[in-house]
Amino acid sequence: MSDLQTVHKHITAPFTGTPIMETVSNLHGLRTVIGRWKREGHTIALVPTMGNLHDGHISLLNHAREHADRTIVSIFVNPIQFGKGEDYEKYPSTLAEDKNKLEKYGLDLLFTPNLESLYPGGTDTDTRINVPELSNILCGEFRPGHFSGVATVVAKLLNNAQPDLAFFGEKDYQQLLVIKRMARDLCLPVEIVGLPIVREPDSLAMSSRNAYLAPDERRRAPEIYRTLKAAAAALRKGGKSLEEIEKSAMDRLEQKGFRPEYVSIRRTEDLKLPTAQDTRLSILVAAWLGPARLIDNIKVRLKLTGFKGSE
Ligand code: PAJ
Repeated sequence: MSDLQTVHKHITAPFTGTPIMETVSNLHGLRTVIGRWKREGHTIALVPTMGNLHDGHISLLNHAREHADRTIVSIFVNPIQFGKGEDYEKYPSTLAEDKNKLEKYGLDLLFTPNLESLYPGGTDTDTRINVPELSNILCGEFRPGHFSGVATVVAKLLNNAQPDLAFFGEKDYQQLLVIKRMARDLCLPVEIVGLPIVREPDSLAMSSRNAYLAPDERRRAPEIYRTLKAAAAALRKGGKSLEEIEKSAMDRLEQKGFRPEYVSIRRTEDLKLPTAQDTRLSILVAAWLGPARLIDNIKVRLKLTGFKGSE
């Protein structure tokens, strides 16, 4: 297949002035475009996604466009980061809508790899990347293998897109740290940039999985962020141990009909357990509401000795 055949051009109505967006679905097509951009001296930004794009993704895209000459968005629902019985099969696929949205906001290349190009040897006995320490705590404890699946696919995307910058959301804060650590440990020549959580007007963090919520669950879902805010206020106020604050947040979520997996107060920097000397903390939560597993987090900046430490 020639390069031209592998690069399909999607051209929007000529009078809208919308930039031309190229779409490629295999590594050869991707590498051809990247090679051209590199020869022309352009800087490149990558925004990896699993599609079903919302304003959280678009915020990453907008920052990417601001900071690099050429922007790539990838859409790939990565099977190896889903555990058995998780929602891989029903993960929402909305490629046509995603393309319309991307064309509206503008980017240079959409990469929609097929399974065979990213997993040439299949997904059962393939090579995996494991990021130690960070991968087995918090979400990793409840989703064994998840972060290895994420690190592996992101490494493949970075290797092939060769971006100068890659953008990720702090909504998946643990994922962001896993990817930063992976890029550092593998000496990848890329800067991993984390960006703030984009929320719905009622404060629920935007997520493709919010679509699983029934109307009544959707109305109750913002309680997850209200619980985080209350925990953050208790932390700032002082006088309570971290365990007490975590427990009352868990209880509050249970009372509101959630099935929380964890509420945990950690060091923002590395997600380790804080000591009383730490001032930059994050409260992280994962909780089920009906069929949807929701995650969220909030940062808290403390003055010294802000909590009854548990050294
Ligand atoms: P996905 O859930 O599609 O998210 C793609 C990117 O968008 C991630 O960096 C995620 O943190 C970010 N994002 C999602 N919701 C956000 C929000 N409300 N505010 C800000 N950023 C948000 O995360 C993945 O896909 C995958 O694990 C991936 C990294 C693509 C690897 O397969």
